[in-house]
Amino acid sequence: MKAIQHIRYGEISESIKFSEIEKPTISKDEVLIETFAASVNPLDIKVIKGKLKALGKYTLPATVGYDVSGKVVEKGEDVINFNIGDEVYAYVDKQGSFAEFVSVKQNILSLKPKNISFEEAASLPLVSLTASQVLKRGQLKSGDRILIQAGSGGVGFLAIQLAKAKGAYVYTTTSTDNVAWVKALGADRVIDYKAEDYKTIVKDVDMVLDTLGNEYTEDAFKVIKKGGKVITLVGPVDKETAKRMKLNFFVKLYLTWKRRKITKQIKHKSAYYSLLLMRANAKQLNEVTGLVESGQVKTVIDKVFPLKDALNAILYVTKGRTKGKVVIKIT
Ligand SMILES: NC(=O)c1ccc[n+]([C@@H]2O[C@H](COP(=O)([O-])OP(=O)(O)OC[C@H]3O[C@@H](n4cnc5c(N)ncnc54)[C@H](OP(=O)(O)O)[C@@H]3O)[C@@H](O)[C@H]2O)c1
Repeated sequence: MKAIQHIRYGEISESIKFSEIEKPTISKDEVLIETFAASVNPLDIKVIKGKLKALGKYTLPATVGYDVSGKVVEKGEDVINFNIGDEVYAYVDKQGSFAEFVSVKQNILSLKPKNISFEEAASLPLVSLTASQVLKRGQLKSGDRILIQAGSGGVGFLAIQLAKAKGAYVYTTTSTDNVAWVKALGADRVIDYKAEDYKTIVKDVDMVLDTLGNEYTEDAFKVIKKGGKVITLVGPVDKETAKRMKLNFFVKLYLTWKRRKITKQIKHKSAYYSLLLMRANAKQLNEVTGLVESGQVKTVIDKVFPLKDALNAILYVTKGRTKGKVVIKIT
């Protein structure tokens, strides 16, 4: 089958290859999906460049991609909730969706929303699970006020809609060109970061979703209320997460040093701070399916590339300027 393979760590253009590889086989609790679409995430870029080597073992070559939509064409004998022909989507928690077929465990698979295309479905799993898990960790509730950084990004445009579905007041940031469509997603106050400083507009919010890192993580504490929450996707590793990751003593010591400014801010604001590392979760993806089918959540696709152009799709995302999601059409 045709697949985009990650062959070495380094620059994207030298590290991935359009290849012909063996079709995957399935185990008892897996289905084989004929892939119709996949989508690109900044995670693909970080993995290809070797930036996440410390977090897990990757054996190369490996097929690129985490989001998939397609049809079930084979099922293992223990698969009870899915049948041949089912239209499905998933975040595959190992790499592998930029290929004509992908094997997926039944416990991370969901039926695709009926009212959207395969391309639209493939744009959703990773970013919608991330946004759901952030709001759950922060226990966002009706009437809360939240700042979502980068409302025009993959995570941002979903977090806005999910936060509005919960009844929160949403501030978000984006550049001038994106203000109108981000506002149309339901954000209450869209801050054009080219013209305005969000720190002068957002005050005493219950929660910040930090998708940007660096100074944005520290500055998040300036805009939360006392006792507020900062959930980051890219900032320094917090103490609890470092514990869960079972890192060795010296790495933990280094991480403590790295988050020293954040530690001061946490104390100063009596704040909750957490680095969220998203996980596959079929139950949460089923909830997203429901919200999409009821029209409460929509996807936003910037561009669709054919599989043979996956390199250009990934390079496009590397620029960090995508409006919503970039999708790969497989068949
Ligand atoms: N920890 C986890 O489990 C997890 C999960 C998902 C994602 N992530 C990480 O979270 C980050 C965001 O992911 P994503 O998929 O949303 O990325 P993305 O789709 O690539 O984000 C691109 C968007 O960011 C906006 N942006 C860039 N700089 C900005 C700024 N200074 N202020 C406001 N908006 C800005 C851009 O809008 P403009 O062109 O208007 O600037 C663009 O629309 C990535 O680093 C990703 O790896 C982590």
